[in-house]
Order: sequence, then structure tokens, then C-alpha cells
Amino acid sequence: MKVSPLSEALGVEVTDVQLAELDGAALDALKTQVFENGIAVIRDQQLSPEQHIAFAKRWGGIDVNPFFPTNSGWPEIAEVRKAETQRVNIGGGWHTDHSYDEIPAMGSILVARELPPSGGDTLFASMGAAYDSLSDGLKQTLDTLRAVHSADHIYQPGGFYSKTDQAAELTGQELSTRAVHPVVIRHPVTGRKLLYVNAGFTLHFEGWTREESLPLLAYLYELGAREEFQCRVEWQPGSVAIWDNRATWHLAMNDYHGHRRVMHRITLTGDPIAA
Ligand code: SIN
Repeated sequence: MKVSPLSEALGVEVTDVQLAELDGAALDALKTQVFENGIAVIRDQQLSPEQHIAFAKRWGGIDVNPFFPTNSGWPEIAEVRKAETQRVNIGGGWHTDHSYDEIPAMGSILVARELPPSGGDTLFASMGAAYDSLSDGLKQTLDTLRAVHSADHIYQPGGFYSKTDQAAELTGQELSTRAVHPVVIRHPVTGRKLLYVNAGFTLHFEGWTREESLPLLAYLYELGAREEFQCRVEWQPGSVAIWDNRATWHLAMNDYHGHRRVMHRITLTGDPIAA
């Protein structure tokens, strides 16, 4: 397995490995890369959907996403897609997958299936680096706070996607989600402190109104999205990205109108998160 960094803040590119067969110590080594670097992009894979599912199960359980289409025929696989005719993509703002769940997903495994001729990259941001950059005073304040997360404003009738050309594809509009998490969590494997709020799903600090919360949340969103904390994944046929949802945000670029992009995502079950 050859590993090279994607940026100073986070991310590695991994070559010379075949995920379909990866097991034992070699799989543990890849997991360590993901936990320590937030995201790993693995090149030159030929993973069938069945191999994608089998590989994901070697990380633990699979969280089936209730909102994304699974038209690929495998319920474990969420299809993240945008057609030539659509203008809005899925995941086009900074977010952390499933932070609205009481036990948020540990991570995701995204396989590139159909790529536009150019564009369609995915940006990732390090929430460890963002937290480290804060003053001691703000760290201490954030360490005491918890925040409320939900996806209702995204997927329910009247929510973000209902007003877009993705509305007809999504499911689960009747579902309601809500979870409260510490604003600063500790990575269960590396022990690193991580900022755990995101623009997609965090509503407000617990015990604070949304109006009171927004200025501080807006500051944290601007901080976390700074280029110095980012890396960029440029997809190629055969690329697979594995990321740690606890330690990163991500954003799918929407810069390829008129072209189709289809990705297969499996979301990995997590453990309860803690400060
Ligand atoms: C996602 O938000 O999981 C989608 C990422 C992507 O399509 O690049």
C-alpha cells in the first residue's frame, strides 16, 4: 500500500491496494489511515456493488440512508446522482453525513460510477485542524456546549430539496430526525478533539435560541471551511473515497451542469459519540 498526503490538513491518496480482497492487517492499516487523516482516496478499483457491500461490512454495520434513492437495486447503497438535466446536486453544502442521528454514522465509502468530463470534485475539511486553531477561551466555551441537529429542514415537505429538481428522486419526507451532540467530541480511536457542528444539519446550541446561536455557528462554519483546513478529491474512474464523518465535513462541487454524475455511497454505522 502506497500512501501520499492530499493536503497539509487532511487526506491521503492510497495506491497499490485492492479493496475487494483487503482484510486482516492490511485492512487495519487502511482504517488507521482513515482515522488519522480523516479521508483516504483509493485509486484504480474495480469494485462491483456486491464487493462494495462486502467491503463495507468488514468495517462493521451499514446505516441505510432513508432519503437517497437506491435505484441501483442494492438497498445498502445510496445513489448520489445528478442527471444532465438537473441543476441541484446532493450534498452541495458543507455537511457531515447523518449527524442528525442519535448515533451518527462513523463514515462513508463512496465509489465513483459515472463522472462528468471535468468538475464534480469533493472537498473535505478537517474538524480537528479547525478546533486546534481556536483560542483557548473559545475552546473552553465550546467544550461545555451541546448542539441540536436535524434533517427535517432538508428533506421534509417544504424543506430545502422540496424546492429543487432533486425533489422527485428523494424519499422519506415523512420522517423526523433530531439528535443532541457535544459541540466538541473526542475521536474514539485517535483521541483528537474535533469540532462537531455542521452547516447542513446543526440547528442551534442546546438551551440557546437559533437567533442566539447563529452568529457563533456562522463563525465556526466560516472557520471550518477555510482553505487551509481542506483537501480536494479529484475523481477518476475507479476511485473510491473512505471518510471519517466524526472528523471531517465534505461538500460535493456542483460545477458540471449538463453532464451526469453517479456515485454509490455506503454509510458505515458508528458508535455513540462523546466529548
Ligand atoms: C455526499 O454528500 O455524501 C456526496 C459526496 C459526493 O457526491 O461527492
